[in-house]
Amino acid sequence: MAGFREYKIGSRLFGLALGGSMCITLLMPSINIASVSSTDIALAKQLSIGHETGFNLDDPFLLGKNKPLNVSLKVDPKSGQPLSGGMSVYVYQPGTAFPAGILHPRILGAGIEELSVQQGHVTDARKDAGAVFVLAKGLYQGKEVSYIDNLTATKGWTPEDVMRVAKDEDVSHAGKGKTMFVREGCWWCHTLLPEQTQDWQVFGAPPMLGDFNGESPTAFGSDRKAPDLLHVGSRNSSKEWMMMHFFNPRLVQPHSIMPRFDYLWGEKDAAGQKIDFAKWRAEYSEYTEGKRVTPPEVPSYASDSEIRSLIDFMMSLK
Ligand code: HEC
Repeated sequence: MAGFREYKIGSRLFGLALGGSMCITLLMPSINIASVSSTDIALAKQLSIGHETGFNLDDPFLLGKNKPLNVSLKVDPKSGQPLSGGMSVYVYQPGTAFPAGILHPRILGAGIEELSVQQGHVTDARKDAGAVFVLAKGLYQGKEVSYIDNLTATKGWTPEDVMRVAKDEDVSHAGKGKTMFVREGCWWCHTLLPEQTQDWQVFGAPPMLGDFNGESPTAFGSDRKAPDLLHVGSRNSSKEWMMMHFFNPRLVQPHSIMPRFDYLWGEKDAAGQKIDFAKWRAEYSEYTEGKRVTPPEVPSYASDSEIRSLIDFMMSLK
């Protein structure tokens, strides 16, 4: 029964290989993902994007409802005194859901959790009252660590106080813009993930594991057909270019395959006038046929339009 013996050897070798690989997987993990601390990028991203984007029952049509605002504050909202160098704060108006790191500070990473809870009082934040957060620096075991400070608890700054002194141009709707990015399917063509290859030289540094703590969903993209956008705000910070490119990419890139997103302007422009899309397209056709020297002008967008938040999101990708 020589065949039977070979069968026994084979099955033992198979068991050894399977058991060995299971031991390696279970007993020798090189990284415990749960112990990875949030980077500053992850903290800023959580605070600017808020609870979650993607499909959820609070916002089933992905309109970007209930999102935080990122305000660059120039003056102290209580005293009215100028703040030297400004301050970037995240305003959660009453009813806006808090991100994972505020609800479960444990995911922030050991030092950040301790400082955010003890010095930053993040667990005192109440959704029905709203809160104002800022990234602060503190000492943890002798090392400088960033943490989240709930200014509503530590300084008494309410969302209302901040919004009263904030000018519209100092407010970024990047959180709502992330929802637009997901809803419009930008990730079919664009990635938010430069890889550890020559990508470095073109699209900037690849992200680190801790950059994604608390982000849901991430929008890595899979099959890149267009430039990576993780750092697009650093290489292209022109709002005018973005406006032209989103209204009709062919205005700035004659052979672009990117669809136009002019409908994100909504019905009315910044002056409250109805946007005449048919007229614009007719004039654009005349331009492409050589019957006009210049293309028609792109309408300026209303401050509550969806395109405003999408461009704010692009600008936040530094
Ligand atoms: C069909 C594929 C496709 C889709 C969908 C698409 N894009 Fe693009 N996008 C491109 C291509 C190709 C380019 C490069 C040529 C150009 O500039 O138009 C580009 C360029 C860009 C740029 C300029 C990049 C740079 O390096 O300066 C930005 C910003 C951008 N797209 C944003 C978006 C956003 C936001 C969305 C979703 C609302 C989107 N794109 C959807 C294909 C696409």
